[in-house]
Amino acid sequence: MKSLTDDERGYLISAEYYDVMSEQHWSARCKDLSDILQTVCGPVATIVDVGSGTGNGLALLNRQFPQAAIHAVEPAAAMRIALMTRVLHDSRLRERVSIYPGTFEQLQEVDNIDLILVSGCIGFFTQAQRGRLWKSAARQLAPGGVILVDTMPLTVPHQVARSRVACTTLGCQRYEVFLQGEAVENSDLMRWEMQFIQYQGERLLRCNTVVRDWHTFGPGRILAEAAQAGLSGLVQADSAIPTVVLRRRESSQPG
Ligand SMILES: C[S@@+](CC[C@H](N)C(=O)[O-])C[C@H]1O[C@@H](n2cnc3c(N)ncnc32)[C@H](O)[C@@H]1O
Repeated sequence: MKSLTDDERGYLISAEYYDVMSEQHWSARCKDLSDILQTVCGPVATIVDVGSGTGNGLALLNRQFPQAAIHAVEPAAAMRIALMTRVLHDSRLRERVSIYPGTFEQLQEVDNIDLILVSGCIGFFTQAQRGRLWKSAARQLAPGGVILVDTMPLTVPHQVARSRVACTTLGCQRYEVFLQGEAVENSDLMRWEMQFIQYQGERLLRCNTVVRDWHTFGPGRILAEAAQAGLSGLVQADSAIPTVVLRRRESSQPG
């Protein structure tokens, strides 16, 4: 059996806390995202959720596009455990969601895609990977299809002081997540250190740290890179999280 990569080891720790960490973000994000999707999408029969994680976006996609087949692509096995559980426990998701244990390259498995969601993950892709993502997305989109990409509200790497980003109580226990970031010299990377802490009452049960790098850039870079693959885009002005909607340019041939 092959040994785990650093990323995979990191997800073994963070997956358990991921929904604690992202709960607030998703409840704040839902309305924005739903408004954007309503405005930019035509009829939607086929959706790909790239980097689906624990499946936070699935309820929204399912509500908004109740007839669509949803293809959730997620490379981290630990995240897929939560994704699988979420899908298994919802009869509507069970009917619609297929789960792909791989990277965005698995887009190739699905044709005629009306909506590709790339939420919370574009900064994990290198420039070369992003180039391949735009190319393959442009090829697999249905006529009129859209790609929705969001990124962090930071355009250049810089120091971010440690702060508590989540705190949730379950039973007699408390979970806290702290985040701090620093710029990695001579690169566009920010190194994020996430600390996951669990208490029993006031007694510390455990504390784990995961470090992960994120390519930090604004929507302008997404537009410029995607243009090379024949995609044109619009930044969504009303969205609190920087969000870009891309479409195939009328004149470009998928290829
Ligand atoms: C921060 S989570 C976001 C999960 C979910 N989309 C959300 O917004 O809650 C980022 C996810 O991207 C996935 N990811 C990282 N590299 C990827 C790649 N090359 N292709 C597809 N997914 C990737 C990770 O495994 C992780 O689950």
